[in-house]
This record gives sequence, C-alpha cells and structure tokens, in this order.
Amino acid sequence: MDKLVVRGGNPLTGPLTVSGSKNTALPLMSAALLTDGPVSLTNIPDLKDIHTFRRVIEVTGTEVEHLPHEHRMTLNAGTLDRAEAPYELVKRMRASFYMLGALLGRMGKARVSLPGGCAWGPRPVDLHIEGMKALGATIDLDQGYVVASAPSGRLDGGRFTLEPSSVGATINIALAASLARGGSVIENAAIEPDVVHFCEMLQAMGAKLDGIGTRTLEIQGVDSLSPVDFQNCPDRIELGTYMIAAAISGIPGKPVDLIGGRADHLGDAFLDAFRRTGTGVEILHDRIRVTPPEELRPVSVRTEIYPGFPTDLQAQWTILMARCAGNSKVHESVYPDRFKHIPELQRMGVNAIIVGDEVMIEGGKSIQGTNVMSTDLRASVSLVLAGMVAEGETHVLRVYHLDRGYERLEEKLSAAGVDIERVRYDEWADPN
Ligand code: EPZ
Repeated sequence: MDKLVVRGGNPLTGPLTVSGSKNTALPLMSAALLTDGPVSLTNIPDLKDIHTFRRVIEVTGTEVEHLPHEHRMTLNAGTLDRAEAPYELVKRMRASFYMLGALLGRMGKARVSLPGGCAWGPRPVDLHIEGMKALGATIDLDQGYVVASAPSGRLDGGRFTLEPSSVGATINIALAASLARGGSVIENAAIEPDVVHFCEMLQAMGAKLDGIGTRTLEIQGVDSLSPVDFQNCPDRIELGTYMIAAAISGIPGKPVDLIGGRADHLGDAFLDAFRRTGTGVEILHDRIRVTPPEELRPVSVRTEIYPGFPTDLQAQWTILMARCAGNSKVHESVYPDRFKHIPELQRMGVNAIIVGDEVMIEGGKSIQGTNVMSTDLRASVSLVLAGMVAEGETHVLRVYHLDRGYERLEEKLSAAGVDIERVRYDEWADPN
C-alpha cells in the first residue's frame, strides 16, 4: 500500500497544471455506449476511477483502446452485447451506475448492481430509478441488482422532476432519454459544468437537447446517435484544490500560476469567497494566477449545488480557514455527514469542531505533522494540504483514495516546490 510523506514548510512556487475532469470524463465514456462506432475522447485523466470504469464498460463487450499517459481513450460499442454491470466493479466506483441509463437507452434493458454507500454515508439512487420509470422502464430489484427493461424494447420518454437536483440522476436519465421513442423533460436538472459538457457531447453525436445549462432539460429521442471525437474539460475541483494550496503555502506577494483550469467552472460562490480571504486571483487566457496575501482573512461558507460553493472543496476550505487569523464556519448542506477528515485534522492540532452539519474552525493555531488516515478522495487531499503547512513530517496513509481523483499529485506538487514523496509501506508492520 502507498502513503504520501509530506515535510511541511517548503513554499509552493508553482506552476501547477490541471488535468482533465474526472467527473466529466465518466459521463463522456458512458455516452460512447450510445453509438455503434468509435468514439475518441481526449484530455482523459490517468486516474484509478477511469481505469475502473473502463473495466466496467469492457464487461459489455465494448472495445476500449486506452492510452492513459496520452490522456486518450477510444471506445467502440459496435460490439456491445451484454447489458450488465457487475457488483465487483460497481461497488468500487459509484458513477458506474451510469451504465443503467446507457444500457437502457442503447439496448432497452440493463442489469446493474446497486452502487452501495461510500466513506461518509449513504449515497441514494432513488432519483435515478424513479427517473427511469418515468421514461417507461420497468424496474425490479434482484439480489442487489437493478434489473430494468423497456417493455416494447425501447423507452417511451417522459417527464421527471429531480428533488433534490442531482448531477448523477440528470446524467443517467439523459443517457436513457436520448434514444427514447418520444420526448422527455427533466425538471430541476443539475447544471454543473460536468453536466453541461456531457450534454454538449450528446448534441455533437446527434441528440436533440434544449435547455442545456438550465433547470429544465428537454430531450427529443432519436433513432440513433453517431460516433464523435470529443475533448474532456479540465478538472474544476483539482483547480480549486490548487488555488487553496497556493493561498496557504505560497510566498506572500509571489504569484503561483495554475495552468489549464477554467475558473468559470468553479462558480461565483467559490471565487467570491476565495477573493474575500485577501488572496489575489487573476484569470488569464491559459492560466489562473493566485497571489497569496500577507495575512489570510477568515470567510465562512455553505456548500450548495452549482453555482454554489462546491461540496467537493469543503474539506480543502477547512484547511484554508485553519490558516486564517480568526474564526469561521463551514456548513455542508449537500452531504451533511461529509466530515471524516475532521478527526484526522484534529490530531494535527487543527481546532475544528463539528456541530451538526457545520464545522466551527478557530484559525491561527500551529499544525503538527503526524500519521493521518485517508478515508475518501477529498478528505485525503485536505490531509496533504495540512501536511504542506504543518511543522514536521506528515504520513498520509491509504492514498489509494487520493489516486481515484488526483493524477500524479506528488509529482506535480514536488515539481512546484513541495517536499512530498510517495512511499510504499506495510500497514501492519510500518511503525510510522
Ligand atoms: C456527483 O455525485 C459527484 N460525483 C460528486 O463528486 C459530487 O460531490 C456530487 O455530484 C455533488 O456535486 C461524480 O460526478 C462522479 P448528486 P452524485 O446526485 O451525482 C442526493 C467527488 O469527490 N441524491 O448530485 O452522486 C444526494 O444524497 C465526488 O468527485 C438523492 O437523494 O451527487 C445528495 O444529497 C464525491 N437521490 C444530492 O442528491 C439520488 O438518487 C446531490 O447528489 C441521487 C442523489
């Protein structure tokens, strides 16, 4: 098993390059199943989740040519002949549940394992299932699998309101609706950049969508979709993570360049809060230039669906607040129990207390390096950020969580000035 060993105190000088978006690449891969020809995707990040999802897709008989180091993938679902997504793979990566919409749309049937929960608690899929029913699918639950079918072999289409709005359910229902017989309307649809970019790919394949980027997504089913070459967008959460890293560990007054990210994908709530900390943000044509202030100001935030403050940056924001001279609070409204990183940060001396679905943070305390345990993707990266500004050495264990969503993180940070290395260890023998 691997850990990351971080020695705090080195300033982050940059530059840092942002990879392709994990949460956009996964729906783009799903959309490739809707056509029977080769679909070439570029700017696909080399991440564990991408490799896992590739294996899920190959179970269907779809041919996948993956060049991870070149960030390219070509999928050809012309050979797709098995409408199944097995538990052993779906349990590893929740977004595998997109196979339900893709297979129902393409084949008129699907047998997909329920994804189960994750580190911070239940992750329901009731909206996905009710949405498929609204399109005319019959759904049975059989030994932990969702068994879905279109009675006439093809979905009719229909209208469904998402409450709450859901990224995954919007994507899943749109996958199924694109090849339905009639029209469909998704009310209260998610409008995250991941969803918008995915809808643009469907449109490039010949799907008939109106209202992309609005809360009412209208889809007129078509008989078939065409193969397309499509480029993935950059990862907005990786960008936000690096902006916070620069603010807490950069040299005051010395700009850090973050290359390849799209600031508009972060939403105004994050950018406004980030600027209110006193950190400089310049949006240039190919990079975002972050200038750390002499003193960081505390800014309380509440996570919301897009364009609100992203829940995927909640843990990272807590570290930023811990470096401020003053108190603040972070309110998690999307996933109320997404606080598995707090006990680990408390062990490092971060003064953060969970009160219901809020974390109260007293900034300005010194942070001590120690051994800390990763629990989920975004919690893990917040521990690395803490290690970068801690006194001494921090061992972030079980970084397989981190490898799901950050490509070559230690290489990127090391090249940008951080003292960090990946070390293999035996969890039961290693005293550290
Ligand atoms: C996506 O998850 C992202 N994952 C998550 O990122 C992200 O945190 C989340 O959106 C919110 O932005 C991917 O894109 C692969 P939701 P998703 O459905 O689609 C409730 C990361 O770190 N809900 O938008 O699963 C749900 O409980 C991951 O990269 C239902 O009630 O999120 C939550 O409160 C973590 N029933 C809210 O909706 C459902 O059927 C939003 O969840 C589905 C969701």
